[in-house]
Amino acid sequence: MFSLVKSTFYREEETKKSLCEFIMQAKQLSMGEQCMLFEREFAAWQGRKHCVSFNSGSSANLGLIRALCNLGILCSGNTVGFAAITWATNVMPLIQNGLVTSPIDINTATLNVSPTTVLEALERTNMQAIFLTNALGMSDDIASIKAICDERGILLLEDNCESLGSEYNGVKLGNFGMASTFSFFVGHHLSTIEGGAVCTDDDALDEALRMVRSHGWDRHLAPSAQQRLRADHNVDDFNAKYTFYDSAYNIRPTEIQGFLGRNQLAYLDEMTKKRAENFVALTPIYDNPQFERMQPQMSTHSSFAFPLLCKTEKIKDEYIQKSTAANIEIRPIISSYMPHQPFYKKYVPAVEHELPGAYAVHKKGFYFGNNPEVTPEDIAMLLETFK
Ligand SMILES: Cc1ncc(COP(=O)(O)O)c(C=O)c1O
Repeated sequence: MFSLVKSTFYREEETKKSLCEFIMQAKQLSMGEQCMLFEREFAAWQGRKHCVSFNSGSSANLGLIRALCNLGILCSGNTVGFAAITWATNVMPLIQNGLVTSPIDINTATLNVSPTTVLEALERTNMQAIFLTNALGMSDDIASIKAICDERGILLLEDNCESLGSEYNGVKLGNFGMASTFSFFVGHHLSTIEGGAVCTDDDALDEALRMVRSHGWDRHLAPSAQQRLRADHNVDDFNAKYTFYDSAYNIRPTEIQGFLGRNQLAYLDEMTKKRAENFVALTPIYDNPQFERMQPQMSTHSSFAFPLLCKTEKIKDEYIQKSTAANIEIRPIISSYMPHQPFYKKYVPAVEHELPGAYAVHKKGFYFGNNPEVTPEDIAMLLETFK
Protein backbone atom coordinates (compact mmCIF):
# COMPACT_ATOMS: atom_id res chain seq x y z
CA MET A 1 0.00 0.00 0.00
CA PHE A 2 1.32 3.47 -0.89
CA SER A 3 -0.20 5.29 2.07
CA LEU A 4 -0.29 9.01 2.78
CA VAL A 5 2.03 8.58 5.75
CA LYS A 6 4.84 6.05 5.89
CA SER A 7 5.93 6.44 9.51
CA THR A 8 5.22 8.45 12.61
CA PHE A 9 8.66 10.07 12.68
CA TYR A 10 11.58 10.58 10.34
CA ARG A 11 14.25 8.05 11.38
CA GLU A 12 11.48 6.27 13.25
CA GLU A 13 13.42 3.60 15.13
CA GLU A 14 16.13 5.80 16.59
CA THR A 15 13.57 8.51 17.39
CA LYS A 16 11.38 6.05 19.31
CA LYS A 17 14.41 4.78 21.22
CA SER A 18 15.48 8.29 22.21
CA LEU A 19 11.89 9.08 23.18
CA CYS A 20 11.81 6.04 25.51
CA GLU A 21 15.10 7.11 27.10
CA PHE A 22 13.84 10.67 27.46
CA ILE A 23 10.63 9.53 29.18
CA MET A 24 12.54 7.24 31.56
CA GLN A 25 14.83 10.02 32.80
CA ALA A 26 12.42 12.98 32.63
CA LYS A 27 11.35 14.45 35.96
CA GLN A 28 8.51 16.41 34.36
CA LEU A 29 6.34 15.50 31.38
CA SER A 30 3.89 18.39 31.46
CA MET A 31 4.93 21.55 29.58
CA GLY A 32 8.39 22.63 30.67
CA GLU A 33 11.97 23.05 29.56
CA GLN A 34 11.80 20.92 26.38
CA CYS A 35 8.84 22.93 25.08
CA MET A 36 10.60 26.21 25.82
CA LEU A 37 13.78 25.04 24.09
CA PHE A 38 11.80 23.79 21.09
CA GLU A 39 10.04 27.15 20.83
CA ARG A 40 13.36 28.98 20.85
CA GLU A 41 14.89 26.65 18.25
CA PHE A 42 11.81 26.63 16.02
CA ALA A 43 11.54 30.46 16.09
CA ALA A 44 15.21 30.65 15.07
CA TRP A 45 14.68 28.12 12.26
CA GLN A 46 11.59 29.95 10.98
CA GLY A 47 13.26 33.34 11.36
CA ARG A 48 10.66 34.89 13.66
CA LYS A 49 11.03 36.50 17.06
CA HIS A 50 8.55 34.33 18.96
CA CYS A 51 7.16 30.81 18.78
CA VAL A 52 4.41 29.63 21.14
CA SER A 53 3.74 25.89 20.96
CA PHE A 54 0.33 24.24 21.28
CA ASN A 55 -1.06 20.73 21.46
CA SER A 56 -2.19 20.81 17.79
CA GLY A 57 -2.34 23.01 14.72
CA SER A 58 -6.07 23.41 15.35
CA SER A 59 -5.32 24.67 18.87
CA ALA A 60 -2.75 27.06 17.41
CA ASN A 61 -5.49 28.49 15.16
CA LEU A 62 -7.95 28.68 18.06
CA GLY A 63 -5.38 30.24 20.39
CA LEU A 64 -4.31 32.79 17.79
CA ILE A 65 -7.83 34.00 17.07
CA ARG A 66 -8.74 34.18 20.77
CA ALA A 67 -5.50 36.03 21.58
CA LEU A 68 -6.20 38.60 18.84
CA CYS A 69 -9.72 39.06 20.28
CA ASN A 70 -8.31 39.43 23.81
CA LEU A 71 -5.97 42.15 22.55
CA GLY A 72 -8.85 43.93 20.79
CA ILE A 73 -7.09 43.55 17.42
CA LEU A 74 -10.10 41.52 16.26
CA CYS A 75 -13.55 42.34 17.61
CA SER A 76 -16.76 40.38 17.54
CA GLY A 77 -18.58 41.27 14.30
CA ASN A 78 -15.39 41.94 12.31
CA THR A 79 -15.26 40.22 8.93
CA VAL A 80 -12.40 37.81 8.31
CA GLY A 81 -11.71 36.45 4.83
CA PHE A 82 -10.47 32.88 4.56
CA ALA A 83 -9.31 30.67 1.71
CA ALA A 84 -12.20 28.62 0.33
CA ILE A 85 -9.79 25.66 0.18
CA THR A 86 -8.66 25.16 3.75
CA TRP A 87 -9.08 22.96 6.81
CA ALA A 88 -12.24 23.14 8.94
CA THR A 89 -10.37 24.20 12.08
CA ASN A 90 -9.04 27.23 10.25
CA VAL A 91 -12.60 28.56 10.02
CA MET A 92 -14.20 27.17 13.18
CA PRO A 93 -12.33 29.47 15.61
CA LEU A 94 -13.52 32.47 13.61
CA ILE A 95 -17.13 31.40 14.00
CA GLN A 96 -16.62 30.40 17.64
CA ASN A 97 -15.23 33.86 18.44
CA GLY A 98 -18.14 35.77 16.91
CA LEU A 99 -16.37 36.85 13.73
CA VAL A 100 -18.09 37.05 10.37
CA THR A 101 -16.47 34.72 7.85
CA SER A 102 -16.15 35.31 4.14
CA PRO A 103 -14.63 32.71 1.80
CA ILE A 104 -12.14 33.91 -0.82
CA ASP A 105 -11.84 31.88 -4.00
CA ILE A 106 -8.61 30.23 -5.09
CA ASN A 107 -6.56 30.05 -8.26
CA THR A 108 -6.81 26.44 -9.47
CA ALA A 109 -3.20 26.52 -10.76
CA THR A 110 -1.83 27.08 -7.24
CA LEU A 111 -4.79 25.96 -5.07
CA ASN A 112 -4.33 29.19 -3.15
CA VAL A 113 -5.93 32.61 -2.91
CA SER A 114 -4.28 34.98 -5.38
CA PRO A 115 -4.02 38.77 -5.61
CA THR A 116 -6.86 38.62 -8.17
CA THR A 117 -9.21 36.59 -5.97
CA VAL A 118 -8.33 38.72 -2.93
CA LEU A 119 -9.10 41.95 -4.83
CA GLU A 120 -12.37 40.46 -6.13
CA ALA A 121 -13.33 39.51 -2.58
CA LEU A 122 -12.45 42.96 -1.22
CA GLU A 123 -14.56 44.56 -3.92
CA ARG A 124 -17.51 42.60 -2.59
CA THR A 125 -16.82 42.60 1.13
CA ASN A 126 -15.09 44.93 3.55
CA MET A 127 -12.67 42.77 5.58
CA GLN A 128 -10.75 43.64 8.73
CA ALA A 129 -8.54 40.57 8.42
CA ILE A 130 -7.59 37.76 6.06
CA PHE A 131 -6.62 34.40 7.55
CA LEU A 132 -5.25 32.73 4.46
CA THR A 133 -4.09 29.15 4.13
CA ASN A 134 -0.91 28.13 2.37
CA ALA A 135 -2.34 24.91 0.96
CA LEU A 136 -0.29 21.80 0.17
CA GLY A 137 3.14 23.44 0.34
CA MET A 138 2.14 26.27 -1.97
CA SER A 139 1.12 29.88 -1.99
CA ASP A 140 0.09 32.11 -4.84
CA ASP A 141 1.79 35.53 -5.09
CA ILE A 142 1.69 36.01 -1.32
CA ALA A 143 4.06 38.99 -1.44
CA SER A 144 1.50 40.94 -3.51
CA ILE A 145 -1.32 39.79 -1.22
CA LYS A 146 0.67 41.16 1.74
CA ALA A 147 1.16 44.44 -0.13
CA ILE A 148 -2.61 44.69 -0.76
CA CYS A 149 -3.32 44.05 2.93
CA ASP A 150 -0.66 46.52 4.10
CA GLU A 151 -1.97 49.21 1.78
CA ARG A 152 -5.54 48.79 3.03
CA GLY A 153 -4.79 48.23 6.71
CA ILE A 154 -6.06 44.64 6.62
CA LEU A 155 -4.58 42.25 9.18
CA LEU A 156 -2.92 39.32 7.39
CA LEU A 157 -2.62 35.95 9.14
CA GLU A 158 -1.25 32.73 7.63
CA ASP A 159 -2.34 29.20 8.35
CA ASN A 160 0.91 27.49 7.42
CA CYS A 161 -0.06 24.07 8.79
CA GLU A 162 0.44 22.51 5.34
CA SER A 163 3.50 24.39 4.14
CA LEU A 164 6.28 24.29 6.71
CA GLY A 165 9.59 24.78 4.88
CA SER A 166 8.16 26.16 1.62
CA GLU A 167 9.55 29.48 0.41
CA TYR A 168 8.18 32.14 -1.93
CA ASN A 169 10.99 34.14 -3.57
CA GLY A 170 13.35 32.92 -0.87
CA VAL A 171 11.06 33.95 2.03
CA LYS A 172 9.67 31.17 4.19
CA LEU A 173 5.89 30.84 4.12
CA GLY A 174 4.70 31.77 7.57
CA ASN A 175 6.73 34.99 7.49
CA PHE A 176 4.31 37.19 5.55
CA GLY A 177 1.51 37.72 8.06
CA MET A 178 1.49 39.26 11.54
CA ALA A 179 1.28 35.69 12.80
CA SER A 180 1.32 32.22 11.31
CA THR A 181 0.23 28.83 12.56
CA PHE A 182 1.90 25.42 12.17
CA SER A 183 0.83 21.80 12.66
CA PHE A 184 3.14 19.04 13.82
CA PHE A 185 0.61 16.26 13.31
CA VAL A 186 1.88 12.91 12.02
CA GLY A 187 2.09 13.09 8.25
CA HIS A 188 2.74 16.82 8.21
CA HIS A 189 6.28 18.07 7.64
CA LEU A 190 7.57 17.58 11.16
CA SER A 191 5.82 15.19 13.52
CA THR A 192 5.45 15.50 17.29
CA ILE A 193 2.52 13.03 16.99
CA GLU A 194 0.09 15.88 17.70
CA GLY A 195 1.32 19.44 18.05
CA GLY A 196 1.28 22.96 16.70
CA ALA A 197 2.68 26.46 17.07
CA VAL A 198 2.12 30.13 16.37
CA CYS A 199 5.00 32.34 15.23
CA THR A 200 4.99 36.13 15.39
CA ASP A 201 7.37 39.06 15.83
CA ASP A 202 4.86 40.93 18.00
CA ASP A 203 5.66 41.02 21.73
CA ALA A 204 2.10 41.75 22.91
CA LEU A 205 0.71 38.90 20.81
CA ASP A 206 3.36 36.53 22.15
CA GLU A 207 2.28 37.37 25.70
CA ALA A 208 -1.42 37.00 24.87
CA LEU A 209 -0.78 33.62 23.21
CA ARG A 210 1.08 32.31 26.27
CA MET A 211 -1.86 33.35 28.44
CA VAL A 212 -4.52 31.96 26.11
CA ARG A 213 -2.73 28.62 25.93
CA SER A 214 -2.69 28.20 29.67
CA HIS A 215 -5.87 29.07 31.60
CA GLY A 216 -5.44 32.84 31.22
CA TRP A 217 -2.90 32.96 34.05
CA ASP A 218 0.52 34.59 34.05
CA ARG A 219 2.64 31.57 34.91
CA HIS A 220 4.52 31.30 31.66
CA LEU A 221 5.04 35.00 31.07
CA ALA A 222 8.26 36.96 31.54
CA PRO A 223 8.77 38.21 35.13
CA SER A 224 8.32 41.84 33.97
CA ALA A 225 4.91 40.97 32.44
CA GLN A 226 3.89 39.12 35.60
CA GLN A 227 4.78 42.13 37.77
CA ARG A 228 2.87 44.49 35.50
CA LEU A 229 -0.27 42.33 35.52
CA ARG A 230 -0.13 41.72 39.27
CA ALA A 231 0.29 45.44 39.94
CA ASP A 232 -2.52 46.39 37.52
CA HIS A 233 -4.91 43.93 39.16
CA ASN A 234 -3.62 44.33 42.72
CA VAL A 235 -2.74 40.64 43.05
CA ASP A 236 -0.11 39.37 45.51
CA ASP A 237 2.36 36.63 44.57
CA PHE A 238 0.43 33.94 46.51
CA ASN A 239 -2.91 34.61 44.82
CA ALA A 240 -1.21 35.10 41.44
CA LYS A 241 -0.90 31.32 41.25
CA TYR A 242 -4.64 31.05 40.65
CA THR A 243 -5.46 34.41 39.10
CA PHE A 244 -6.93 34.31 35.60
CA TYR A 245 -6.59 37.51 33.62
CA ASP A 246 -8.31 36.79 30.33
CA SER A 247 -10.46 34.40 28.34
CA ALA A 248 -8.40 31.28 27.63
CA TYR A 249 -8.17 27.51 27.22
CA ASN A 250 -5.82 24.76 28.29
CA ILE A 251 -4.25 23.83 24.95
CA ARG A 252 -0.68 23.24 26.08
CA PRO A 253 1.73 20.73 24.59
CA THR A 254 3.59 18.24 26.76
CA GLU A 255 7.31 17.70 27.22
CA ILE A 256 6.99 14.69 24.90
CA GLN A 257 6.02 17.05 22.09
CA GLY A 258 8.80 19.48 23.02
CA PHE A 259 11.36 16.67 22.99
CA LEU A 260 10.10 15.28 19.67
CA GLY A 261 10.00 18.72 18.11
CA ARG A 262 13.66 19.29 18.95
CA ASN A 263 14.59 15.81 17.75
CA GLN A 264 12.80 16.15 14.40
CA LEU A 265 13.83 19.76 13.82
CA ALA A 266 17.36 18.48 13.31
CA TYR A 267 16.09 16.70 10.16
CA LEU A 268 13.74 19.38 8.88
CA ASP A 269 16.02 20.75 6.15
CA GLU A 270 16.77 17.21 4.97
CA MET A 271 13.06 16.32 4.92
CA THR A 272 12.21 19.53 3.04
CA LYS A 273 14.85 18.80 0.41
CA LYS A 274 13.57 15.26 -0.14
CA ARG A 275 9.95 16.37 -0.45
CA ALA A 276 10.94 19.06 -2.96
CA GLU A 277 12.94 16.51 -5.00
CA ASN A 278 10.05 14.05 -4.98
CA PHE A 279 7.69 16.74 -6.23
CA VAL A 280 9.99 17.52 -9.15
CA ALA A 281 10.35 13.82 -9.97
CA LEU A 282 6.55 13.50 -10.04
CA THR A 283 5.92 16.64 -12.09
CA PRO A 284 5.80 14.75 -15.47
CA ILE A 285 2.37 13.57 -14.28
CA TYR A 286 1.11 17.04 -15.22
CA ASP A 287 1.99 16.25 -18.86
CA ASN A 288 -0.98 13.88 -18.82
CA PRO A 289 -3.69 15.86 -20.71
CA GLN A 290 -6.35 14.42 -18.40
CA PHE A 291 -5.06 16.72 -15.63
CA GLU A 292 -4.86 20.47 -15.27
CA ARG A 293 -1.26 21.62 -14.99
CA MET A 294 -0.48 22.88 -11.48
CA GLN A 295 1.85 25.85 -11.51
CA PRO A 296 3.62 26.00 -8.18
CA GLN A 297 5.44 29.32 -7.82
CA MET A 298 7.63 28.26 -4.92
CA SER A 299 11.37 28.80 -4.68
CA THR A 300 11.35 25.90 -2.19
CA HIS A 301 8.42 23.53 -2.45
CA SER A 302 7.84 21.50 0.70
CA SER A 303 4.63 19.56 0.15
CA PHE A 304 3.23 16.58 2.03
CA ALA A 305 1.02 15.68 -0.92
CA PHE A 306 0.89 15.75 -4.69
CA PRO A 307 -2.36 17.35 -5.91
CA LEU A 308 -4.14 16.46 -9.14
CA LEU A 309 -7.01 18.39 -10.69
CA CYS A 310 -8.77 16.31 -13.35
CA LYS A 311 -10.28 17.91 -16.44
CA THR A 312 -13.66 16.27 -15.73
CA GLU A 313 -15.47 14.54 -12.87
CA LYS A 314 -15.57 11.36 -14.94
CA ILE A 315 -11.77 11.31 -15.16
CA LYS A 316 -11.58 11.80 -11.40
CA ASP A 317 -13.89 8.82 -10.84
CA GLU A 318 -11.70 6.71 -13.11
CA TYR A 319 -8.58 7.69 -11.17
CA ILE A 320 -10.26 6.91 -7.85
CA GLN A 321 -10.76 3.38 -9.18
CA LYS A 322 -7.25 3.18 -10.63
CA SER A 323 -5.74 4.32 -7.32
CA THR A 324 -7.72 1.74 -5.39
CA ALA A 325 -6.60 -0.99 -7.79
CA ALA A 326 -2.96 0.14 -7.49
CA ASN A 327 -3.21 0.35 -3.68
CA ILE A 328 -2.53 4.06 -3.59
CA GLU A 329 -4.23 6.00 -0.81
CA ILE A 330 -5.79 9.22 -2.10
CA ARG A 331 -7.80 12.01 -0.47
CA PRO A 332 -9.98 14.98 -1.39
CA ILE A 333 -8.00 18.24 -1.57
CA ILE A 334 -8.25 19.31 2.08
CA SER A 335 -11.75 20.31 3.17
CA SER A 336 -12.69 20.88 -0.47
CA TYR A 337 -15.53 23.35 -0.80
CA MET A 338 -15.95 24.90 2.65
CA PRO A 339 -19.43 26.42 2.09
CA HIS A 340 -20.73 22.87 1.56
CA GLN A 341 -19.36 21.53 4.83
CA PRO A 342 -22.23 20.67 7.21
CA PHE A 343 -20.76 22.65 10.13
CA TYR A 344 -20.42 25.74 7.92
CA LYS A 345 -23.99 25.46 6.67
CA LYS A 346 -25.18 25.03 10.26
CA TYR A 347 -23.56 28.20 11.62
CA VAL A 348 -23.16 30.57 8.66
CA PRO A 349 -25.84 31.98 6.36
CA ALA A 350 -25.60 30.62 2.79
CA VAL A 351 -22.68 32.07 0.83
CA GLU A 352 -24.16 34.14 -1.96
CA HIS A 353 -21.14 34.69 -4.15
CA GLU A 354 -19.69 32.01 -6.41
CA LEU A 355 -16.35 30.34 -5.77
CA PRO A 356 -15.70 28.58 -9.10
CA GLY A 357 -12.05 27.74 -8.39
CA ALA A 358 -12.77 26.07 -5.07
CA TYR A 359 -15.80 24.31 -6.55
CA ALA A 360 -13.70 22.86 -9.40
CA VAL A 361 -11.17 21.56 -6.86
CA HIS A 362 -14.00 20.02 -4.84
CA LYS A 363 -15.49 18.29 -7.86
CA LYS A 364 -12.35 17.25 -9.74
CA GLY A 365 -9.40 17.21 -7.35
CA PHE A 366 -7.56 14.64 -5.25
CA TYR A 367 -4.08 14.07 -3.87
CA PHE A 368 -1.71 11.31 -2.88
CA GLY A 369 1.04 11.54 -0.27
CA ASN A 370 4.57 12.85 -0.56
CA ASN A 371 6.99 12.20 2.26
CA PRO A 372 10.77 12.02 2.69
CA GLU A 373 10.69 8.22 2.73
CA VAL A 374 9.22 7.88 -0.77
CA THR A 375 11.53 5.56 -2.74
CA PRO A 376 12.53 5.60 -6.43
CA GLU A 377 10.31 2.49 -6.82
CA ASP A 378 7.37 4.43 -5.37
CA ILE A 379 8.01 7.28 -7.81
CA ALA A 380 8.14 4.85 -10.75
CA MET A 381 4.87 3.24 -9.65
CA LEU A 382 3.16 6.63 -9.24
CA LEU A 383 4.35 7.81 -12.66
CA GLU A 384 3.13 4.55 -14.17
CA THR A 385 -0.33 4.97 -12.59
CA PHE A 386 -0.91 8.67 -13.25
CA LYS A 387 1.23 9.56 -16.26
C1 LIG B 1 -4.57 24.09 6.72
C2 LIG B 1 -4.68 23.36 8.02
N1 LIG B 1 -4.88 24.06 9.15
C3 LIG B 1 -4.98 23.46 10.34
C4 LIG B 1 -4.90 22.09 10.46
C5 LIG B 1 -5.05 21.46 11.81
O1 LIG B 1 -3.86 20.89 12.27
P1 LIG B 1 -3.92 19.71 13.35
O2 LIG B 1 -4.27 18.46 12.63
O3 LIG B 1 -2.52 19.68 13.90
O4 LIG B 1 -4.91 20.09 14.37
C6 LIG B 1 -4.71 21.30 9.33
C7 LIG B 1 -4.66 19.84 9.45
O5 LIG B 1 -4.38 19.08 8.61
C8 LIG B 1 -4.59 21.95 8.06
O6 LIG B 1 -4.46 21.24 6.95
